[in-house]
Amino acid sequence: ADELRAQRKQEAARHAASFVEPGMVVGLGTGSTSAFFIDELGRRWNREGLRFKGIPTSERSAQQARELGIELTDFSEQTRIDLAVDGADEVLRGRLTLIKGLGGALLREKIVAHAADRFVVIVDDKKLVDKLGTTAPVPIEVTPFGWECAAERLGRLGARAPKPRMDRNGQLYVTDGGNMIIDCHFGPIEDPLYLFTEIAKIVGVIESGMFLDDVSEVLVATEHGIDRLTA
Ligand code: A5P
Repeated sequence: ADELRAQRKQEAARHAASFVEPGMVVGLGTGSTSAFFIDELGRRWNREGLRFKGIPTSERSAQQARELGIELTDFSEQTRIDLAVDGADEVLRGRLTLIKGLGGALLREKIVAHAADRFVVIVDDKKLVDKLGTTAPVPIEVTPFGWECAAERLGRLGARAPKPRMDRNGQLYVTDGGNMIIDCHFGPIEDPLYLFTEIAKIVGVIESGMFLDDVSEVLVATEHGIDRLTA
């Protein structure tokens, strides 16, 4: 089953990689699906001689791209991105509404998504849900100072026992931006916009992993091929 999922992720990634044209500035997402996307871009770079510039959403993706020989750029060179491609943790069935950030790169991912003319999300069909929050927590990036206060407010909004994310070694997880993540289990979310707005009001919250109005299209890899969802 894992292999089948990996295969689907790879199909979605390949499809998205076919959107890349010479000279583009391309946002490189984070996570296992995005890793397939970066691999495919590496293949096109080395075999087809396709030339473009990548903007990575994490150190991990930057390293992968560098190892493949892909040229990287950053916002000091230009603030416009032609195309950004990234994975997601949960996608509302039939909608461009989703949760991202279980990989821990949500702030950079959102900044890159917003800078992009076109933001394409790639998932396998196991990520589709009828209500956001059903399978995934909402990751929320907060400043380390006073995170306890933010966690308390998140609890009042319905998050069950909100606690900072820890890494594999049992240490506090620190994002590329030096912040913390509180994974909030709200359960099925009835009103994503309300929750999003209330979360954003909490002082110390930098960004949440809810993407409500940021996505241009979602490519869903299913057993019948790629379903393409656009606005
Ligand atoms: C990274 O912070 C996340 O937003 C990922 O895009 C998300 O977790 C999807 O990861 P996978 O492609 O590994 O499922």
